[in-house]
Amino acid sequence: MIEADWVIVTAPTDRGADPAVVLEPALAVLAARHQAVTFRSAVLGGGSSTVTEVLDDAVRAGAASVMVLSGQTLADRRMDAWFRRVIGHWLRQQPAGTAPEVRIGGSLADAERYADLVEDVAVHGGAAARDTTAPLACRAWEQIPAFSRHVLVCRGPRCSANGAPETQAALTDALEAQALGDDDVLVTLTGCLFPCSQAPVVAVYPDGVWYAGLTADRVATVVEQHLVGGEPIRGWIGERASRP
Ligand code: FES
Repeated sequence: MIEADWVIVTAPTDRGADPAVVLEPALAVLAARHQAVTFRSAVLGGGSSTVTEVLDDAVRAGAASVMVLSGQTLADRRMDAWFRRVIGHWLRQQPAGTAPEVRIGGSLADAERYADLVEDVAVHGGAAARDTTAPLACRAWEQIPAFSRHVLVCRGPRCSANGAPETQAALTDALEAQALGDDDVLVTLTGCLFPCSQAPVVAVYPDGVWYAGLTADRVATVVEQHLVGGEPIRGWIGERASRP
């Protein structure tokens, strides 16, 4: 018996594998077994739905209780601490008396049936590793692409909990509206870039311009004036430490 209205299964990021895709079959099985419970996946940082976005969804759906648990099979205490911190931040932002009860589950590796899980995979034999798989080198990856600007969008934990998903989506739309592709402006999602208190943080190179508090409503202006017009918006540049 699951005593929660929603269960959110998390992964640190969607780089490499998007939990929304990888966990979908398992979450569908769980949803069929527990029809009163909503099962969703979420990431701490990355392009997929973040844990705070999914918690917002749970509130909109009227959930009174939410269980958040890691889908990682090995415990990662540092990552668990990040999730606790981001969820605590989200709870503080909720109007008084409106937040659901949020509980954080233990590690899958501590579960009694973890050995069964490992054994189940092992007895199915796996697939043979081969020396004929694609090489690590490829002609298409021999040159640095000829883009004129490189935009780094921080999708670390704090920026992701403070508007970076909306900033990222607005950037995609604004670049499309200006017909700027990867060959013009290369956008890279990054982990924490350090000035978390200035979230959401976006850096533009080779200009070396770091925007602070670049919320979604400011993105089109940055694209028009800076990435197209070549003029950084000085008033939105974050405070930088001086070199000793
Ligand atoms: S999470 Fe973005 S600067 Fe730290």
